[in-house]
Amino acid sequence: MRKILVTGCLGQIGTELTLSFRKVYGDANVIASDLIKKDVPAVIDGGCFEQLDVLDAGRLAAICSQHKIDTIIHLAAILSAVGEEKPQLAFNVNLSGLYNVLEVAREKKIQVFTPSSIAAFGPSTPPDNTPQDTIQRPNTIYGVTKVAGELLCDYYYTRFGVDTRGVRLPGLISYTALPGGGTTDYAVHIYYDAILHNRYESYIGPGTRMDMMYMPDCVKAFITLLEADPARLVHRNAFNIAAMSFAPEDIAAEIRKHLPDFELVYHVDPVRQAIADSWPNSMDDSCARQEWDWKPDYDLASMTADMLEHLKIKLA
Ligand code: NAD
Ligand code: SER
Repeated sequence: MRKILVTGCLGQIGTELTLSFRKVYGDANVIASDLIKKDVPAVIDGGCFEQLDVLDAGRLAAICSQHKIDTIIHLAAILSAVGEEKPQLAFNVNLSGLYNVLEVAREKKIQVFTPSSIAAFGPSTPPDNTPQDTIQRPNTIYGVTKVAGELLCDYYYTRFGVDTRGVRLPGLISYTALPGGGTTDYAVHIYYDAILHNRYESYIGPGTRMDMMYMPDCVKAFITLLEADPARLVHRNAFNIAAMSFAPEDIAAEIRKHLPDFELVYHVDPVRQAIADSWPNSMDDSCARQEWDWKPDYDLASMTADMLEHLKIKLA
């Protein structure tokens, strides 16, 4: 059985991924870690937790040795909106953190899975049906670190044989943990506000389409690619994966099928709007479908029904 270290385990993805991974690989085989020990009992008490700053290469190596880690799921990062507020921090965490993970993986022959993002594309990228291999000139620090991260992962595979794998994630929607400061966060907050206030004020303007995905599909993608036959992988890192693409008014219309009086208004934030405008409208994920049988389970309608059902209970 794998022995897995998850970095950034208390974030939006890590919280759910750690719990799902423990079900698949066993509680004792998934070591959760994050910068600060936040109060997330399901993750902290459900298995081993280590406090770990990924910028501390010595402690990272010691944890890998102590637990005989053979797989790292590297999630610790600064996302797009916080990145624009703190570009130096984003550069350090996203690039030096990944470098430390890849170096320990090289030394100890560890497999590394780390997500890239739709942010790895920029304004000169073809926005519709964005190909797997295309122009990548992002204009955010987050995007710059994601492109460099994709290349670093490719380099560690071709130069040192480190088994690196990864996907370009769309914006993620989930009800367990709140998102950590990205541009696509509105697509989570809209569901919370629909339940709490029957109204949402969107910082992303009408007509702004972005790729999105429901968290269960994200976790499924991680496990499927992690376990995929390496002989079939042509791209290996940074696979485009897609599930749905929508603008704020599209989610609102779907929410109104459950809450007919739901109101959507706009108060556009120019910084996050500019970031959103620089990202694709929808990605072509045919390489992921061909090379490791990627297929999402949720579309906008099924995700909306499930989100509202769970949030009604959570926020009651
Ligand atoms: P998040 O912001 O919710 O969580 C990130 C976690 O990293 C936090 O718990 C934070 O405490 C931790 N962290 C920050 N600095 C750290 C450090 N120095 N050492 C250790 N931990 C540190 O992010 P997320 O949404 O869970 O994203 C995880 C990964 O997925 C990131 O690489 C992100 O770029 C990528 N991604 C996320 C989305 C999304 O919509 N959530 C979309 C595309 C890509
Ligand atoms: N959800 C992320 C963000 O908006 C995309 O990588 O930053």
